[in-house]
Amino acid sequence: MRVLLTGGAGYIGSHTALVLLENGLDIVVLDNLDNSNPESLRRVEELTGRQAPLIVGDCTDEKTVASVFEQFRPDAVIHFAGLKAVGESVQKPLNYYQNNLDATMTLCRVMPKYDCRVLVFSSSATVYGTNQKMPLREDFPTGCTNPYGWTKWISERILTDVAAADPTRSFVLLRYFNPIGAHESGRIGEDPSGIPNNLMPFICQVASGKLDHLRVFGNDYPTRDGTGERDYIHVMDLAEGHLAALNYAKHHSGVEIFNLGTGTPYSVLDIVSSFEKANGVKIPYEITPRRPGDIAVCYADATRARDLLHWTAQRDLTAMCKDAWNWQKQNPNGY
Ligand code: NAD
Ligand code: WQD
Repeated sequence: MRVLLTGGAGYIGSHTALVLLENGLDIVVLDNLDNSNPESLRRVEELTGRQAPLIVGDCTDEKTVASVFEQFRPDAVIHFAGLKAVGESVQKPLNYYQNNLDATMTLCRVMPKYDCRVLVFSSSATVYGTNQKMPLREDFPTGCTNPYGWTKWISERILTDVAAADPTRSFVLLRYFNPIGAHESGRIGEDPSGIPNNLMPFICQVASGKLDHLRVFGNDYPTRDGTGERDYIHVMDLAEGHLAALNYAKHHSGVEIFNLGTGTPYSVLDIVSSFEKANGVKIPYEITPRRPGDIAVCYADATRARDLLHWTAQRDLTAMCKDAWNWQKQNPNGY
């Protein structure tokens, strides 16, 4: 099977590229390198001994996308390409709508011209909005709280309508929870530019001494210890979920939605103490007010992916913390 990975030089894309190559699939990556470094794919090649060709180009440009299809003739697409910073999406909503929606629509237009009917889409648990009932199930109501989230919500809508209009298409929408960690080699990992927004990369930079201390955003949530609870998932488990999704999509048509999470919530303080224990380092922190827009708790009901994709997350929180730190230690300045 030949798979096009849009945004495949990024964090989740590069780990998925590795898993696909290790399982004998052929890949090509289309990435504009807006938030990534081609070194990630060079290291994927080094780890797998196989080729991970990169075409530097924009997924919103129909000519570029068509030329990739013309050359490579993929059987399937995994569509990771997108802007993903929640705060930035509030400041620059048009950039987010333009980039994330045009990319999805361009793929939908080009794919049938090359008889490519399988697409796996990177959606997000953010589409569950402020749902209070946990664990979150795929059939729960959706709604978002920021432009980034709406781009995922609207992309899901577009893909659902496109698949309804053409019954030969097979689209799988994967709602990721909180991916963290890195490949166990420490050769590929998450490489945020500037000061990280997300918890685990921030903790890693505190551990390495680059940042002074962690700010824990609120300890007055209605949770076990008062800090926010999330469903953290090892990025390698997430990557393996994409292989399962491709196998599923090959044999089905229409649209299916799957949560990719572990189903187990951990608090911010759980993450701090697991990181300290797994790695023997101290993470100084202070409690600060809540971060605007944050919800108290978010975790998946992961039974649908288990039953239909035959996939469940295998790696525990200790592995997530160890692998995140191993990557950070080996690559203090990223790629
Ligand atoms: P990332 O930024 O590391 O990877 C995204 C890649 O897409 C980058 O390499 C970027 O250069 C590329 N890209 C962006 N716009 C493009 C365009 N128009 N044309 C070509 N390439 C483009 O992010 P990630 O964490 O690997 O996330 C991958 C996908 O999963 C994104 O769609 C993101 O929204 C989604 N997602 C991520 C998370 C998370 O916490 N990391 C959670 C849920 C969903
Ligand atoms: C996790 C917990 C924070 C940083 C975001 C996006 C979501 C998805 C995944 C793409 C929360 C707390 C964090 C810090 C802290 N991305 N925290 N101090 O907000 O659950 O999800 O990434 O789709 O859409 O919103 O992840 O890692 O930012 O936060 O206390 O410096 O850690 O309050 O409880 P979040 P996160």
